[in-house]
Amino acid sequence: MEQKKQTVLDIKARKESGAKISMLTAYDYPWALLVDQAGIDVILVGDSLGMVVLGYKDTVSVTMDEMIHHTKAVTRVVKRAVVVGDMPFGSYNVSTKAAIKNANRFMKEGKADCIKLEGGKSMAPVIQAIVGAGIPVQGHIGLTPQTASALGGFKVQGKSAEAAQALIEDAKAVEDAGCFSLVLEAIPAPIAKMITEVVSIPTIGIGAGVDCDGQVLVTHDMVGLFDRFTPKFVKQYTQISDTISTAIAEFKADVENQKFPEEQHSFMMNADELRKIDEAS
Ligand code: KIV
Repeated sequence: MEQKKQTVLDIKARKESGAKISMLTAYDYPWALLVDQAGIDVILVGDSLGMVVLGYKDTVSVTMDEMIHHTKAVTRVVKRAVVVGDMPFGSYNVSTKAAIKNANRFMKEGKADCIKLEGGKSMAPVIQAIVGAGIPVQGHIGLTPQTASALGGFKVQGKSAEAAQALIEDAKAVEDAGCFSLVLEAIPAPIAKMITEVVSIPTIGIGAGVDCDGQVLVTHDMVGLFDRFTPKFVKQYTQISDTISTAIAEFKADVENQKFPEEQHSFMMNADELRKIDEAS
């Protein structure tokens, strides 16, 4: 695996070359190491962190400080992938000034390569300002989990001709605002294909069919490490929670039956020294 650090320009160039982009989430050192060593092109420190790691009921509660803490853990280990810091709810919808300030934190403190934010046309001025400040931005349209309540829940977006047309306009708007790539979430496959054809930046789909320029999944979903629900668009490649549960149950039984620790896990002592203690007591 080529170890050369990937840049946002390498990702953008994939549109031209046609080589598909792989993207997964990671929120800490061990997972970032595994994902990076596997040669995944883009690592998203997603605000899905809030649900799959921190146990919140949704992503709305995630704070900037939490995102920065986890982004730092990821960038400490990643050598090859582009690292995207996900702007949490409330960090870019208050004012453009605050949005730039928070995007700067991802770059300066988190050492991310770029940021991602949710929203179409209405977010174009904010995207433009952040790009203007020298920070690459990945867009995210369709089902935008941070504003799911305004969308009436976690629903597939763009199902009517009118809604699909609005999504196409959103895609063009965020491209014009300067995004280097665009996540399409929970969109009918034919609409994602249309968007992919009309924009000049790579699209990365999650529940958006096979014709996007790349695909992204939440890692904890695809390895079976999130218990609450698994969206229809997730392919579960393994059920790692079963393996972990078995190991934990075996440890408990070993402790209770004094089968652990064995000699190889214990520290021994020079017999003469041990005898001296015995004699002294
Ligand atoms: O936070 C996240 O993990 C995301 C993905 C669903 C794209 O935004």
